[in-house]
Amino acid sequence: MRKELPVIPALFPMPVILIATYNEDGSIDVMNAAWGCAYDYKQLKLNISDEHQTTKNIKRTGYFTVTVADKNHIKEADYVGMVSARRVKDKFIKSGLKAHKSDIINAPILDDFPICMECKASETNPEDYGVIADIIRLTLDEKFIDEKGNVDLSKMNIIAYDPFNHGYYVVNEKVGQAFSDGKKLM
Ligand SMILES: Cc1cc2nc3c(=O)[nH]c(=O)nc-3n(C[C@H](O)[C@H](O)[C@H](O)COP(=O)(O)O)c2cc1C
Repeated sequence: MRKELPVIPALFPMPVILIATYNEDGSIDVMNAAWGCAYDYKQLKLNISDEHQTTKNIKRTGYFTVTVADKNHIKEADYVGMVSARRVKDKFIKSGLKAHKSDIINAPILDDFPICMECKASETNPEDYGVIADIIRLTLDEKFIDEKGNVDLSKMNIIAYDPFNHGYYVVNEKVGQAFSDGKKLM
C-alpha cells in the first residue's frame, strides 16, 4: 500500500546552501537556502526570495559565494536562515562565522566550510525567485583532498535538508560508485 501526501518537492536530500554577500556598508551577510540545485555544468540555480537582503546584495554587486553547511555548523546555518540582515544589522557577527574577501570577486569566502564556489549572477528573475549563478572558481580545503587528487566527501560531514520534517541529516557514507556499479547488470 502507498499513502498519498500533500505535494512537496520530495527530493531528499536537498542541499543546505550558504550564500555569502556584502551589504552596502561592507559588512557581510549569509543566508541559508535549500531550494537550490546544479543548473548546468558550471552553473547553479538558486530560488531565493526577492525580499531577502542577500538577493538585494546580489542584484547590487553581481557576486556571491556558495558553500554547503556541515555538521559542525548546524546552529550557525540554521540561524542565518531565520534572521535577516534587514532587521539584525550584526547578523553575521552574531552567527560567529568567519570570512575573508575573495581575491577575484566582490564577495566574502566563509572560512569554516570545506567547499567554496565563487559565483557571478548571470541572470536574476524576480518573478520566479531565480538567480542563475556562473561558478567562476571552485576551491576546497586541501585536507579533504588525498595525495592522488581525489576529493574525500566522507570526511566533510556535509548536511542535507529534509523537506518532509525540516530535519538536517549528515551525508557521509559512500555506498557505491556511479557509472560502475550498474555494469554488474549489463
Ligand atoms: C533550512 C532553510 C532553508 C531555506 N531555504 C530558502 C530558500 O531556498 N530560498 C529562500 O528564499 N529562503 C530560504 N530560507 C530562508 C532564508 O534563509 C531567510 O529568510 C534568511 O533570513 C534571509 O536572510 P537575509 O535577508 O539576511 O538575506 C531558508 C531558511 C532555512 C532555515
